[in-house]
Amino acid sequence: MNIILLGAPFSGKGTLAKKLNSEFNLVQISTGDLFRENIKNGTKVGLLAKQYMDKGELVPDSVTVTMLEERLKKNDCKNGVIFDGFPRTIEQAKMLDKIAKVDAVIELDVPFDIIRRRCLGRRVCSKCGEIYNTSTYSKTTCAKCGSPLFQRDDDNLETVNNRLEVYKKMTAPLINFYTDRLFTVDGNQNPEIVFESVKNFLKKE
Ligand code: AP5
Ligand code: MG
Repeated sequence: MNIILLGAPFSGKGTLAKKLNSEFNLVQISTGDLFRENIKNGTKVGLLAKQYMDKGELVPDSVTVTMLEERLKKNDCKNGVIFDGFPRTIEQAKMLDKIAKVDAVIELDVPFDIIRRRCLGRRVCSKCGEIYNTSTYSKTTCAKCGSPLFQRDDDNLETVNNRLEVYKKMTAPLINFYTDRLFTVDGNQNPEIVFESVKNFLKKE
């Protein structure tokens, strides 16, 4: 089973993906995480991606799709993939259609004023990637592995506002593109409730 998680920045894609991974034995592929890994390793792709990510713009489709295709060749994708933050343009969706069967698209629906409240409080574990928010978790180390938490470079108000604009313009049209496979969930609920409703939907599929 291959699933797409579709939603604005901070809608909870990463949080939900981690819960779905273990329930359905799927592998989470976040193109954002792949770019951040490339930046950390100082690769050519990383250097290029950083210029776009710092401004909250999308990395060009050709670069993103090539990176994704490489990732999909790995063995761990055999049982199915959760695409987190990919596709983000109609062009990317058309390219994905050529290389993988998409069974379901989960749209996380969260009003932008709620997103703005979430955005500056996000903290991520530097080792295991667990996601927190200072509104519900005040420690500076991960509850799961004890490693330090950090704030992402692109989690600043200026970049976030642009990311939201880019979402509206470039990514929201995918809701109509995938209308035959779409399940929309209210992402402004407790993460456990969001997970339960998506889990129940996928189990019926
Ligand atoms: P990416 O890393 O994908 O960022 P994003 O889409 O902006 O989404 P986020 O990771 O910020 O949010 P999320 O939805 O995962 O929310 P999370 O679970 O963390 O992309 C970054 C950049 O890379 C892009 O701007 C672009 O430049 C580039 N890029 C990536 N993919 C690309 C592509 N396909 N094409 C081109 N460029 C690409 O949760 C957020 C916060 O909310 C956390 O604090 C969490 O604890 C909290 N939270 C989560 N769920 C809930 C809930 N239900 N209730 C209350 N709080 C919640
Ligand atoms: Mg994410």
